[in-house]
Amino acid sequence: MTTLQEKVAVVTGASRGIGRGIAIELAKRGASVVINYHSSPDAANEVLAAITEAGGTAMAFQADVSTEDGANALLKAAVDAYGKVDILVNNAGTTRDNVIMMMKADDFDTVLNTNLRSAWLCSKAAVRGMMRKRYGRVINITSVSGVSGQAGQTNYSASKAGIIGLTKALAREVGTRNITVNAVAPGFVLTDLTKDLPEDLINQMIPLIPLGRWATIEEVAYAVAFLASDEAACITGQVLNVDGGMIM
Ligand SMILES: NC(=O)c1ccc[n+]([C@@H]2O[C@H](COP(=O)([O-])OP(=O)(O)OC[C@H]3O[C@@H](n4cnc5c(N)ncnc54)[C@H](OP(=O)(O)O)[C@@H]3O)[C@@H](O)[C@H]2O)c1
Repeated sequence: MTTLQEKVAVVTGASRGIGRGIAIELAKRGASVVINYHSSPDAANEVLAAITEAGGTAMAFQADVSTEDGANALLKAAVDAYGKVDILVNNAGTTRDNVIMMMKADDFDTVLNTNLRSAWLCSKAAVRGMMRKRYGRVINITSVSGVSGQAGQTNYSASKAGIIGLTKALAREVGTRNITVNAVAPGFVLTDLTKDLPEDLINQMIPLIPLGRWATIEEVAYAVAFLASDEAACITGQVLNVDGGMIM
């Protein structure tokens, strides 16, 4: 197992689902973890308890990372508490699915702001310190929907495709400072985001996945932990699919 001893990680949207799993996995490998949440303090405190009871180091911090003040406050809190940020995982995300004819402009804005603007704002706030330290790992959670497009998700697919563009552009910008920027693209993972998907849609999707199943939260977290590790030092600007082979 890769070690992240002495590293400091910030995980946005870590109160539930995939972000929760990533925070727990990074802490298990020795990183001090900032658990960001927006509207679920009890869930964030549960993640904090799970990490500290297992002997790890963590703190929870409330911030709406789609706002500049929220993103800046989150990264400042991490530096104030632990002195630096080595690893930033831009995971916070949401959906407002509908066909384009029925989708409100507000639903487009909410999804773009929560998924893409937040990743840009947090990256901007984190990269200055990483450049100074000549070390950094930025890992953006995109989606297979951003790679192949998904009907009913013009807003979400656009936000996730945007994250891939952000990943590649930033990787080129900061590579000489020993900062890597990569994306992880989960397929379907059972979380609050997907639990209400219609049964017939799920049944249509499973035969399209070579492994014949959804990914687990832990499997996504392992990919993030690898990209955060020293073993992944020469990997940048990449999109790693964790999707059972659904997109290839
Ligand atoms: N589940 C899947 O199948 C799947 C597939 C591909 C990609 N993904 C991506 O994986 C990421 C996590 O998804 P999930 O399924 O774990 O979703 P989830 O269970 O709905 O959790 C979403 C998390 O994002 C946080 N969040 C939302 N808006 C925020 C904001 N403005 N500021 C800070 N935090 C915010 C939530 O915090 P609060 O509860 O505290 O508000 C929560 O912790 C998302 O980027 C999603 O697009 C998921």
